[in-house]
Amino acid sequence: MKYKVTLIKGDGIGPEVTDATCRVLAAAGAPIEWEEAPGGAGAVATHGDPMPAATLASVKRNRLGLKGPLETPKGGGWRSANVTLRQELDLYVGYRPVKTLPGVKTPYTDVDLVVLRENTEDLYAGIEHEVTPGTVLTLKVSTRRAGERIARWAFENMRYTGRRQIHCCSKASVVPLSDGAFHDAFHAVGSEYPFIQRHDLPVDNLAFQLALDPRGYDVLLLQNLYGDILSDLVAGLVGGLGVVPGANIGDQVAVFEAVHGTAPDIAGRGIANPLAVLSSALLMLDYVGEQKIARRVERAVWDVLEAGVHVTGDLGGKANTAEFTDAIIDKL
Ligand code: NAI
Repeated sequence: MKYKVTLIKGDGIGPEVTDATCRVLAAAGAPIEWEEAPGGAGAVATHGDPMPAATLASVKRNRLGLKGPLETPKGGGWRSANVTLRQELDLYVGYRPVKTLPGVKTPYTDVDLVVLRENTEDLYAGIEHEVTPGTVLTLKVSTRRAGERIARWAFENMRYTGRRQIHCCSKASVVPLSDGAFHDAFHAVGSEYPFIQRHDLPVDNLAFQLALDPRGYDVLLLQNLYGDILSDLVAGLVGGLGVVPGANIGDQVAVFEAVHGTAPDIAGRGIANPLAVLSSALLMLDYVGEQKIARRVERAVWDVLEAGVHVTGDLGGKANTAEFTDAIIDKL
């Protein structure tokens, strides 16, 4: 059996890191048939739309997608294709496991946490208007339904993965209605899981505590904007954006993608770290039940990281994307 997966290579370093990922998966014998589909700035140029209907239809049909980063212009042009994808397919869970990797030098050696980000609401609902010249209003959307369903997903996931401590972090003291609703939903659902330790913490305090010592944290549940920001912060604790994977998960469809963006500063130079997208693809293999292949690739990655020779510049090495990829394939 082969899994048909929609592949959106994306913009900037996207094609470089997704090509590297496809090479490794092919070498590992992963039973995947790619269906390539356009997205991002490239799709605006060719289809006049950063998230063409045909791309959405492909992901819906296959129920699985692997995605490189998509460019969003600052201050207008087009609306984020990432947000469109998550909203159109109702991918309400942003799942981002963050773990210390062998051979990657960081201040802390045993970070192992999961950031869960509500993916569909908050300021990302994109409802903005100019009330009078010089005054704009942006709506922060927070429904009880969205708060409850991501909380339910979080606790159910923890039940099966053995994680036992969750922090819900927001700013309920400043925005009591929207953040308060998220909070209330968290506690209401969490009360059904008495074997899981539930905590809440202001999100600014969380940022401070993570910078001081992230080791005590297990699962972090956050709304969309806080989750976006804190995901980058915790990526910095384990080696940077080049190594942290992610998944956008809904009840029907899942799209796997790295936390990082298009990295315009290094795009086209063949030096990007492919690990974040490769690790996202491993999450996808886990999701479909191909754990054996996922663990084999993971072992090969760890061997290369431990040796520390053929790693990219962001990890302190001198290898380019192709050399790093070849080294992983050699280990396989
Ligand atoms: P970015 O993540 O692209 O880059 C931040 C820094 O991290 C840069 O110095 C970059 O070189 C480095 N970096 C990122 N990925 C790397 C990798 N794989 N290997 C080595 N270094 C890496 O964030 P930025 O600059 O804020 O955003 C650039 C563009 O990407 C924007 O248009 C933004 O909207 C988009 N973006 C897209 C995302 C997505 O598609 N999910 C997520 C974040 C940003």
